Amino acid sequence: MTNEKPSERGLRPSAHNTATTTNAGTPITSDDFSVQQGKQGYIGLHDVGLVDKLAHFDRERIPERVVHAKGAGAFGEFEVTEDVSAYTCADFLQPGKKTPVLARFSVVAGEKGSADTVRDPRGFALKFYTEEGNYDMVGNNTPIFFIRDAIKFPDFIHSQKRTPDTDLQDWNMRWDFWTLATESAHQVAWLFGDRGIPSTYREMDGFSSHAFQWINEKGERFWVKYHFKTDLGNGYLPQDEADRLAGVDPEYHRRDLYQAIKDGNYPTWTLKMQIMPEDEAEKYKVNPFDITKTWSQKDYPLIPVGKLTLNEIPKNFHVQVEQAAFSPSNLVRGVGFSPDKMLLGRVFAYPDTQRHRLGGNFEQLPPNRPLANVNNYSHQGAAAMEFSEPTVPTYVPNSYDGPRADAEKSPGDWGRWEPHGDEPYRGDPYPHPEDDDFSQAHVLVREVMSEEERDRLVSNVVGTLGEVEEPILSRVFDYWRKIDEEVGNRMEKDFKDSLK
Ligand code: HEM
Repeated sequence: MTNEKPSERGLRPSAHNTATTTNAGTPITSDDFSVQQGKQGYIGLHDVGLVDKLAHFDRERIPERVVHAKGAGAFGEFEVTEDVSAYTCADFLQPGKKTPVLARFSVVAGEKGSADTVRDPRGFALKFYTEEGNYDMVGNNTPIFFIRDAIKFPDFIHSQKRTPDTDLQDWNMRWDFWTLATESAHQVAWLFGDRGIPSTYREMDGFSSHAFQWINEKGERFWVKYHFKTDLGNGYLPQDEADRLAGVDPEYHRRDLYQAIKDGNYPTWTLKMQIMPEDEAEKYKVNPFDITKTWSQKDYPLIPVGKLTLNEIPKNFHVQVEQAAFSPSNLVRGVGFSPDKMLLGRVFAYPDTQRHRLGGNFEQLPPNRPLANVNNYSHQGAAAMEFSEPTVPTYVPNSYDGPRADAEKSPGDWGRWEPHGDEPYRGDPYPHPEDDDFSQAHVLVREVMSEEERDRLVSNVVGTLGEVEEPILSRVFDYWRKIDEEVGNRMEKDFKDSLK
């Protein structure tokens, strides 16, 4: 365990009023002129300052995240204000504990330079630098998701990105995918309502969306969902204002977050949990591990846990935010996975993409290094920066007191559940009485949204249909009629009227 501040890692001593150097630290001759042989001769490859500068510049870009490429990050702290030790033995969740945090908020489909104010879910990723190792909560600002099986995720994302021929974004393929994958209905209804474009990152909630497991010291298990509720209240942008801002300030959300923190106007969120005793999952009305469903707060009310405060903006975006690697696979003892097939797929995908995006030693980069000690037998690889004492062998078992696995301290096998048989199975999840695709979407549109919000929902959807072809267009109206008959009919009528 080190006491270093994650936000200070990698910071060089002040460079004000010093000589410019090569990347090897030796002073260079000129910032303005490369060396030539004579006044009109060839430039020399031996001009180390020139070559070093150009070669490094040529390599400045790294692959952007395949999704959630545009984002903003900030450091802060999570403080536990309540006592949830009856539900989890995770050290960082014990009463009074304070843990440094890195947060990154993002837009899903757009590229690194895309506009902040588009209609899209927002990422809500947190890295807790706990004394037991890094714990990441990689959620969204929505409690649900478009699909429920990881095998569909690449197809879903392809439909949200760009066409292969012209590289255009295309509502036709989005609606094609959504209306064929009808488990998307709840998330799509959410997306086209007011909450589909938050006014700022500070005024949006964050959700784990998935169910996770919490395990207490006695080994009792609970299914849990995380809700980070913004203390500012939720704020939304209407479509026309979002469109205007995308033109005048595509960095609107990023700028707002940094400016607020610079002004000492620190955004805070209260963490509240829905907690389901382990044995209630079987008989709950919906499959509690289906990420397209919420758990009713009447059945599982929100239990407060603590407060997240963001109080420090990055000193270097590339090092501290672009190179940050969040992953649902980063758990600590007292927290486990659940039988949510999306979650289990994500556990593989994040470290996999990060090895590609940042290199095999990405966990040694400043934002990813844990405060807890890293003791293992991985070594070497590109850009290795850390190493064990030479007396610690590079293999196990060994006769030299090298580290040994400790199942009691590991989150590993603590999280577990009943798989319901051991035959290979591909199909809908284990059935529950209300597992259909449209009921919760209907409740959202008819009971949660006001009449005015429903009007905006209709207009937001109709505004995307101009380029949608048959038979997809007819399917869009049928899809919405299955969510809410009146809303679907209005969409069809308003769209047809707009063509007159
Ligand atoms: C099987 C489904 C999914 C797959 C395969 C997947 C895959 C990915 C990948 C490859 C990245 C880029 C990571 C990086 O380069 O560091 C990413 C980023 C992200 N994903 Fe997912 N994702 C899935 C579902 C979800 C869901 C359901 C949520 C929210 C509940 C989510 C939230 C995020 C967030 C917030 C980020 C950005 C993290 C950051 O700020 O660096 N993803 N996802």
